[in-house]
Amino acid sequence: MASAKASTPRPQTAAWLRSSNDISQQFLAFGGRADVVSLAGGLPAAELYPVAEVQAAAQAAIARHGATIMEYGPVEGLPALRQLIAARASAETGGTFTAANVLLTTGSMQALDLIGKVLVDPGELIVAQAPTYLGALDAWRPRAPSYRPLDWTLTDPDFDATLARAKFVYSVPNYSNPTGVLVSQERRVALLDKVLEAGTWLVEDDPYLSIQLDGSPGPSILSHSVARSTRPGPYDGPVIYLGTVSKSLVPGLRVGWVIAEPGMIQNLALTKMASDLSGSLLTQAIALELMEREFDHQHSRSIVPVYRERRDALLREANARLADWFEWEVPVGGMFVWMRSKGDAIDTDALYKFAVEEKVAYVPSSVFDFTGENRFAMRVNFTRSSPEVIAEGVRRLARAIEHYLSARQQLDGAA
Ligand SMILES: Cc1ncc(COP(=O)(O)O)c(C=O)c1O
Repeated sequence: MASAKASTPRPQTAAWLRSSNDISQQFLAFGGRADVVSLAGGLPAAELYPVAEVQAAAQAAIARHGATIMEYGPVEGLPALRQLIAARASAETGGTFTAANVLLTTGSMQALDLIGKVLVDPGELIVAQAPTYLGALDAWRPRAPSYRPLDWTLTDPDFDATLARAKFVYSVPNYSNPTGVLVSQERRVALLDKVLEAGTWLVEDDPYLSIQLDGSPGPSILSHSVARSTRPGPYDGPVIYLGTVSKSLVPGLRVGWVIAEPGMIQNLALTKMASDLSGSLLTQAIALELMEREFDHQHSRSIVPVYRERRDALLREANARLADWFEWEVPVGGMFVWMRSKGDAIDTDALYKFAVEEKVAYVPSSVFDFTGENRFAMRVNFTRSSPEVIAEGVRRLARAIEHYLSARQQLDGAA
């Protein structure tokens, strides 16, 4: 009897989970092995984490707030941190932002999840910058959306009609993940105008703002939206702006925020309540201590030269060893170089097997593509490892490519 019971199959997981692409998980797990050089993750340099400052801030936060930050908190987050973020947004954009415009989230990843839940019913349309941040695709997969690519040139004659049907537009204009691209001010304004005309929402996801390697990116789309607004009072435009301390302080605090018009903030807060009751007031209070004295800005200034040196090391080695096969633009910020195979000659999904043999990890382009069809590029990270390790990773990558090409030649010869 007991054995019959043990063999009864349990219910399957949900359809969206069974259909999900787990190649990125394979890559990240492989990249975590000690003998592997990982150019795959999107992680800051752990040795630069400001451990002593976070420790001091934790002590100061507990001394200041005591047991109140050990409670379940208001679902919108610690009021003082919401006010600080609203004040910064007002100063940076010239608009009027209050705490009612701000929701604190568990990283901006939770904000992406909440936006999907609040706005998207199955089959509904998201216009997303393509290639798209993998985490956003993962967050929205349970909502079963349909996608159209956002073409920043706005030359598609059907774009207006597409936008009119879209629940929102998703963009990462500052040093995008995965491409590292910085979107020009002209394109930001042109897109905003289209969004206003179509009457949809525009999600501006901005986790890389603090990693400015060459020059500053200029105003956010949120700033342009403030400039377009004619009504007085708190911000009520279409931009849903996502910020985070993951790159400017440490990702382990899991503190992010949404800035949007108050009605959207309320809907997101209601949805957040059903997800986690409230975020961690404890880590929000630590972030408050650090941000009140602008330590996030100071810390960013100190890590940027290190990241710049690492980017340059990657590009130097890549110019010497990969330029016959791949091309790329030099990213002026962020964490990634997007390497495109010349003439689509190298399938980066197929290259994976050879990279595993050489013990080097990267992320293939297919995982960032909602059609899964772009298999001819790869995302290469330069922030996590030292210049020497990065250079070694590129040498391994070059060997993997040579082996891949000769294996393919043998196959072609045999056919
Ligand atoms: C474009 C983008 N959005 C959101 C996130 C999530 O960041 P977090 O949840 O750590 O704030 C990331 C993480 O790297 C990202 O690249």
